[in-house]
Amino acid sequence: MDPASPAARASLGRVLVSADRIAARMPELARDIVSWMGEGEDDLVLVPVMTGAFIFAADLVRHMPVRMRITLATLSSYPGTATTSQGVRAVGDMPGDLSGRRVLVVDDILDSGRTLRWIRERFGADRPAKLATAVLLRKTVPAALSTPCEFVGFDIPDEFVVGFGLDYDGCFRNLPDVRVLHPEGPPR
Ligand code: IMP
Ligand code: MG
Repeated sequence: MDPASPAARASLGRVLVSADRIAARMPELARDIVSWMGEGEDDLVLVPVMTGAFIFAADLVRHMPVRMRITLATLSSYPGTATTSQGVRAVGDMPGDLSGRRVLVVDDILDSGRTLRWIRERFGADRPAKLATAVLLRKTVPAALSTPCEFVGFDIPDEFVVGFGLDYDGCFRNLPDVRVLHPEGPPR
C-alpha cells in the first residue's frame, strides 16, 4: 500500500461484529426474507448494491433456497476518503424493468439513509409487486432509524466501520469481522 495513502494512515480498532456472529445471523435473516417473499411463480430479483454488499449478499443468498435472479447495482455515495455521505449516484448498470417483480435490495450499511431512499424511489417507480431492503448493519442514528428498511442484521453505534465488504478509501473490505476504523491512526 502507498504509505502516503489515507488507508495507510488509518488504524483498525475493536471488533464490533465478529465473523461468527455474522455467520449465525445469516440463516435467520434468510428465513425472514423468504417468508416475506410469499408464494409466487416469479423469481425473486435480488439486487446487491456494489461494492460494499458483495460479501453479505454472497453469504445471504446461499441460505435462500428459492429461485432468484441476481442483478448488481453500482452506486457511489462515499467517494474516496469521505466518511460522511456525499450524495448518491448510479455509476454503472442498473437493473432493468422491475414492474410486477418481487425485489430485494441488499446493502452493507444504513447510515444517512440516502442510498436506500434513493433506491426505493428509483425502483419503486417501476411498480414492483414487492420491494424490500436488507442491510447487514444499521447505525443507531436518527436518520438511519427513520429510513424504511425491512431486514437489519445488526444495529451498531455511530462509528465508522470497515470489514465484511465495507471499505475506507477502497481498502479493508476483505476483513472477516466488522471493525471500527480510526482514519488518522490510533485514538489518543
Ligand atoms: P447512507 O447512504 O449514508 O445510508 O450510506 C450508505 C453507504 O455509505 C453504504 O452503502 C456504505 O458504502 C457507506 N457507509 C456508510 N457508513 C459507513 C461506514 O461506517 N463504513 C464504511 N462505509 C460506510
Ligand atoms: Mg455502499
